[in-house]
Amino acid sequence: MKADVVLGLQWGDEGKGKIVDVLAGKYPIVARFQGGANAGHSIHFGETSFVLHTVPSGVFHEGTTNIIGNGVVFDPVIFKKECKEIEALGIPVRERIALSKRANIILPTHKLLDAASESAMGKGKIGSTLKGIGPCYTDKTARRGLRIGDILQPDFKKKFENLKSIHISELNSFKGFRYDASEHEEEWMDAIEFLRNFRIIDGEYFLNNALAEGKSCLAEGAQGTLLDVDFGEYPFVTSSSTICAGACTGLGLPPKSIGTVYGIFKAYCTRVGSGPFPTELFDATGEELRKRGMEYGATTGRPRRTGWLDMVALKYAIMIDGVDELIMMKADVMDNLDTIKICTGYEVNGKVTDKMPFYTYSDIVPVYREFKGWKKSLKDIRKESDLPAEFLSYIDFIEKETHVPVKVVSLGPDRDQTLFR
Ligand code: IMO
Ligand code: MG
Repeated sequence: MKADVVLGLQWGDEGKGKIVDVLAGKYPIVARFQGGANAGHSIHFGETSFVLHTVPSGVFHEGTTNIIGNGVVFDPVIFKKECKEIEALGIPVRERIALSKRANIILPTHKLLDAASESAMGKGKIGSTLKGIGPCYTDKTARRGLRIGDILQPDFKKKFENLKSIHISELNSFKGFRYDASEHEEEWMDAIEFLRNFRIIDGEYFLNNALAEGKSCLAEGAQGTLLDVDFGEYPFVTSSSTICAGACTGLGLPPKSIGTVYGIFKAYCTRVGSGPFPTELFDATGEELRKRGMEYGATTGRPRRTGWLDMVALKYAIMIDGVDELIMMKADVMDNLDTIKICTGYEVNGKVTDKMPFYTYSDIVPVYREFKGWKKSLKDIRKESDLPAEFLSYIDFIEKETHVPVKVVSLGPDRDQTLFR
């Protein structure tokens, strides 16, 4: 069997949690392969609403094994808190989750370093979620990080102290930054102990064996392609490979084991944190998208920036990820609009292009194509034949531009508000 991959094609917050939850019933294994608790994956079913930051979104399905892959930067404290909340719903998390030995661990001092570095950057800051993601990946590539497998070794404490002292000397180089490096240490040590309740596995063997035995796997991306460390608008990116190839390196799977690539996008765009956003709206329409779409960060509570769908960026993401099927989210948020726009090109120095420039923060004037709004509530529609013609022509345009079919349309947060085409 193959590993199918779910990816966000924009700047994160596309609705990956909902879709992984909807699809998870078909997969015995769900695996996170990158990022960490900077993710906020929201799931709603019946009376239950949940935001997952670390635990994979397949956890609510019986019979699913949820893997934390080696590519993840893992926060034990947030993990423990999440597990306790899920356990309180009567879900046997300890049976449903397994942790890869090779995943790097976030220390309390990683979060301090994140905060120190952001405050030192002032206006030029990245707008990080301050979960310690960047500093933890920095240690990983500097070859001095702590990994989950290390907690099984007798010298774990020593390794921890060594890394902490490196962090302290780095923190001291930030003039005027006040901190207490030991503040959250006890809580962190407790959370490390809690990990011993879980299967700690060689994720790469586990997954390759499972595929060979005929089990399928769904790899759950976090963030989005436009936040990728290589292909996002650097430096306003996260520190991991959010693209399809990241599923291979973040799980130990060969490229040929990748099956269907699902690309998730919102029918408009949002972005949280700093960085370029060519189609951003600063007017009443932008505010309406934020209000109706409840566009406030699931991890940080920050209001998200909103704007029109950006086809230049979407096509770029589809190319890099090799998307087979598109999943469109939240079109219902635009139900009331008279006119809807899609950006089809960027005017840069008087020339129009549909390619991503190296710098998207230079002067870009988006070129728009206008569509008539459908002016009808979509949230209760479950059949393709009941969809308004204006909405179908919006989808049709996206399919023609991208050459990829829109296979799923999500028209509300609940599992049931999902139309398969
Ligand atoms: P999900 O998985 C939206 C953004 C931050 C910031 C930049 C770097 O819910 O889609 P980091 O904390 O990674 O150093 O922040 O990336 N960011 C996200 N934006 N959704 C996310 O995750 C994000 N994770 C990080 O706002 O601009
Ligand atoms: Mg989010």
